[in-house]
Amino acid sequence: MSKCERLYNDYYGDVFNFVQSRLRHTQEGIVSDIVQETFARVCEHEELIEQFDREKTKAWLLKVAHHICIDYWRKSRKFEEDLISDFDALSKEFMYDGEIEEQLHSQLLKDLILELLSSLKIEHQQAIYLYDLQHSSYKECARKMDMTEVAFTSLLKRARKAFKTKVLEAYDSRLMKMELSDYERRTIRKWFDILNVTHNLDELVSLKTSEFFNGFIEKYDSFRNETYPHGLNNFLISLASVHKKSIVADFGCGTGSLTMKLAPLVQKIYAVDHSKEMIHTIQSLKKRHKNIEPALLDVTKGLSDLGGKVDIGFSCMLLHHIFDPETAIAEMANALAPGGQLVIADLIHTIEDWRNKESHDFWSGFKIEQLKGWLENANLKVLQIGEQQQYAFRFTDKKDANKKIEVPLLFAHSVKMG
Ligand SMILES: C[S@@+](CC[C@H](N)C(=O)[O-])C[C@H]1O[C@@H](n2cnc3c(N)ncnc32)[C@H](O)[C@@H]1O
Repeated sequence: MSKCERLYNDYYGDVFNFVQSRLRHTQEGIVSDIVQETFARVCEHEELIEQFDREKTKAWLLKVAHHICIDYWRKSRKFEEDLISDFDALSKEFMYDGEIEEQLHSQLLKDLILELLSSLKIEHQQAIYLYDLQHSSYKECARKMDMTEVAFTSLLKRARKAFKTKVLEAYDSRLMKMELSDYERRTIRKWFDILNVTHNLDELVSLKTSEFFNGFIEKYDSFRNETYPHGLNNFLISLASVHKKSIVADFGCGTGSLTMKLAPLVQKIYAVDHSKEMIHTIQSLKKRHKNIEPALLDVTKGLSDLGGKVDIGFSCMLLHHIFDPETAIAEMANALAPGGQLVIADLIHTIEDWRNKESHDFWSGFKIEQLKGWLENANLKVLQIGEQQQYAFRFTDKKDANKKIEVPLLFAHSVKMG
């Protein structure tokens, strides 16, 4: 039996019931079509099926089914007529006036909240349910739970705290925005030893990454020679209009491979990195090129000193180490003078198992559309963006040390709007 057939056998009933409950006034034939379409879409990613346990596989199928239902609702004009009755069953607390899409999200939000609530200890669930959802008085709640009012008050406090932790862990708003895959979620928890997703996640990731690079300095150049595509620095320089008067920045400069190539071509180059050891190495390069200006800065928050000074910024293999690449791009854009250019080189998104726990590689690359969106949000006009097979990085396969995985370069050249 193929993976897909097994999936079909195991979850057909769950998906059917889910779709039927979403499309209560719809013919059975349409429900079946949507169920079939759900399995067809999931089976396009057959390679992922076995990576998930039962719970996750089901959640994945239901999420896909949910999106197909939304598409169906949108296409069929019936949606508006059915809306009132479809949503009658929803709790009013999570409903609000507004666009259809928002209302659908409120359904999703309610599902999430109920799912999170059900993962709490039973007495915590009861306390929240009675007081926050049923709006019973303290006295009434205490009576129903057979305890004193004081004991109920402190139970409710603990229950809300536990609930909040669950929300932060599972649905931190930035994580939602970033659409973390399970793979990346695991990275946060296991590789960075971050067990609770808290508000300062970016700082923790940044701290642990800089600690790693501090200790990697000796081996960095040989790692770079083995892994990076030949001719990458020249390719990146050729994208921008570099000249003798340019003020340039190499963001996340590492040991300065690109910095050294640029130094003879420009007036001044800021070599920016958050690792003390990397910056220490760059200090010694100043002996060869006096126009190198080392800068110990975190690109996600510390670029205000450079504000508006840079004609051309380069970011080579930096973004996949950063928890929130969009913020880093916005900061780099702020460092540019009007009309300044930003050249980015990183990895195209892949699900291949190349990332290195030890190197604190955070993202498994990026999609072109994702990077384009971040650049545009930072008020940068994208002049060129794409994938280059010709410049591929060569990593060791995590499952087979003798095998190399080639990940093509993702590059972008953009300019700051006036
Ligand atoms: C893979 S290395 C690339 C170095 C260099 N650009 C090159 O092409 O060889 C990534 C570098 O980015 C730096 N880095 C990572 N996160 C950073 C951050 N938030 N701010 C500044 N530098 C950062 C690391 O310290 C490291 O030196």
